[in-house]
Amino acid sequence: MNLLIFIIIIQQGYMKSKINTLQEYKAVYTASVNEPDLFWSEIAKQFTWSKPWETVCEFDMERADFKWFKGAKTNITINCIDRHLKKNAEHTALIFEPNSPKEEAQHISYKELHEKVCKMSNVLIEMGVHKGDRVAIYLPMIPELAISLLACARIGAIHSVIFAGFSSSALAARINDSQCKMVITSDGGFRGNKTIDLKSIVDEALMQCPSVQKVLIAERTKTVITIKKNRDFYLAPLLDEASKINEAEPMDAEDPLFILYTSGSTGKPKGMVHTTGGYMVYTAYTFKNVFAYEQRDVYWCTADIGWITGHSYILYGPLLNGATSLLFEGVPTFPNPGRFWDVIDKFGVNQFYTAPTAIRALAKESLSHVQNRSLASLKIIGTVGEPINEEAWQWYHKNIGKEKCPVVDTWWQTETGGILISPLPHISPQIPTYATTPLPGVQPVLIDDNGNEITDTEGSGKLCIKYPWPSIARTIWGDHNRYKETYFTAFPGYYFTGDGALRNKEGMYRITGRVDDVIIVSGHNLGTAPIEDAINEHPDIAESAIVGFPHDIKGHALYGFVTPNKDLPDLNGMKEAINTLISKKIGPIAKLDKIQFTEGLPKTRSGKIMRRILRKIAEGDFSNFGDISTLLNPEVVEEIKNGRQN
Ligand code: WT7
Repeated sequence: MNLLIFIIIIQQGYMKSKINTLQEYKAVYTASVNEPDLFWSEIAKQFTWSKPWETVCEFDMERADFKWFKGAKTNITINCIDRHLKKNAEHTALIFEPNSPKEEAQHISYKELHEKVCKMSNVLIEMGVHKGDRVAIYLPMIPELAISLLACARIGAIHSVIFAGFSSSALAARINDSQCKMVITSDGGFRGNKTIDLKSIVDEALMQCPSVQKVLIAERTKTVITIKKNRDFYLAPLLDEASKINEAEPMDAEDPLFILYTSGSTGKPKGMVHTTGGYMVYTAYTFKNVFAYEQRDVYWCTADIGWITGHSYILYGPLLNGATSLLFEGVPTFPNPGRFWDVIDKFGVNQFYTAPTAIRALAKESLSHVQNRSLASLKIIGTVGEPINEEAWQWYHKNIGKEKCPVVDTWWQTETGGILISPLPHISPQIPTYATTPLPGVQPVLIDDNGNEITDTEGSGKLCIKYPWPSIARTIWGDHNRYKETYFTAFPGYYFTGDGALRNKEGMYRITGRVDDVIIVSGHNLGTAPIEDAINEHPDIAESAIVGFPHDIKGHALYGFVTPNKDLPDLNGMKEAINTLISKKIGPIAKLDKIQFTEGLPKTRSGKIMRRILRKIAEGDFSNFGDISTLLNPEVVEEIKNGRQN
């Protein structure tokens, strides 16, 4: 494209505002691919920077080195909060809807959020947290969670949020990996009709975490907790005393903003590092376009802030756009399966963003829960986390979107920081189960079995991305080599996503699922290795292999093949012991649905477990095992087939 056309596109304002038509999308997309630096600098100019960038993007795919907006300085909270104070100080930034519908909701305006974040920032400074220090956040979905992230960002501390469903050992491993100096937690959390004692989980974890000097405690459940002198402090009195004036720390565009752990193919979680400038520009731009957010809309994403979806599309993306974002503490089925739909009606939610597993679970309930509610405020409905099956898509489109709301099936990952492939509402065609087309600046490719890029429009293969986008993770905390190996070595010159995909003749993408040892259970990304490591710690277990099998609601569930090292008198007891161990080491989300005890596991001559065969057995598909004669122990296959758990 020549520069002239680009300038015309800029002048017509396609980039400043939302993309409005298919023609605009095509023009903007072409511009973003042909002139990425020009394109992203136009978008980035819309934010407040205290120092401009020297270069827009510098990168080296081989060394996995990415720099966006090098040399620029900003603070993301200035752009999330301060920037809106002039015109929109009284506008609601966050709506907090508590777990129990009997408890009153809270509306926090931009002005109030500013004050709360400044106070919290001053508390952190007072407690000895400095720029670059890591702060672990282990909180339920309460306003303090959002405020803690923003306060860290404001003083330049790196937040590391650990989902409050993780066990004490998982928490300890993550705290130790990045040597967190502080933990922010609460006395407890409410989830449906359960109360979770978060502080005692933290206490247990901290027995193994020498780096942690201080613990701040938000009060939520009023549970009686133990306070360790000089280490543990209730947050409220500190906030009361803190000044509401805080000058945001100027951050380099490439200074880390946060670490967020995701599972991988070894037992050690990967601390994905996201930095400031690129993440800010990309989450803001994608939020605006994917959700077609208009001022005064009420937007609701049901994820937990403990996952990337919550970071990017409950907190940063919406606040960067001055939006009203709803924070929901509860679960979809409490006090009844109409809870989501009640909340939508209560606040007049316009954009609703949830996971296929939640849709499938609610679709199983009586339709009366939906029919009793209006849902008339909805304009756009979205999904994320795993491939959405056609049935769930249709149910969602018909019953929730009333056939008038576009469904945005958004594909992305913890590593990508923001949505990469998604329909644009009212612009892209609606094809159930298709994430459709790449957003501006994103260049997906499919790679065939020989490692070559598929150049035909139609095809299927491994999904890779050819060119960096601003919010690509920069590294794995403390292990750049692992980052390089995991994402940039399999196919040199590309970022490898770990997903398989197909592309139809119109060039639309459909994500088919993971092609590695990660299984997505109820939208949670679970590596098989950490679960196997947990099981293998049991003294009576020799080894184990975990595979996924299709599940009606969870999408996939876990099937464990476990080889004991002696005769076990009580197999059921052992099954329970295994799941207890997994809950303790990782969290209840990683529990196995099915466990089969085996004499041995099928292995190649080099000792690798043949998961392909185990996967087929778990699925109940006994055809086409392929050539098993190369196995070290082909005889176990028959035995395992016969012992399959239904
Ligand atoms: C994996 C990333 C990104 C936020 C939530 C998950 C799967 C995600 C979709 C989608 C098909 C999807 C992929 C991806 N995935 N969205 N719309 N269609 N698959 O983040 O835990 O890092 O998991 O989730 O397999 O690689 P995550």
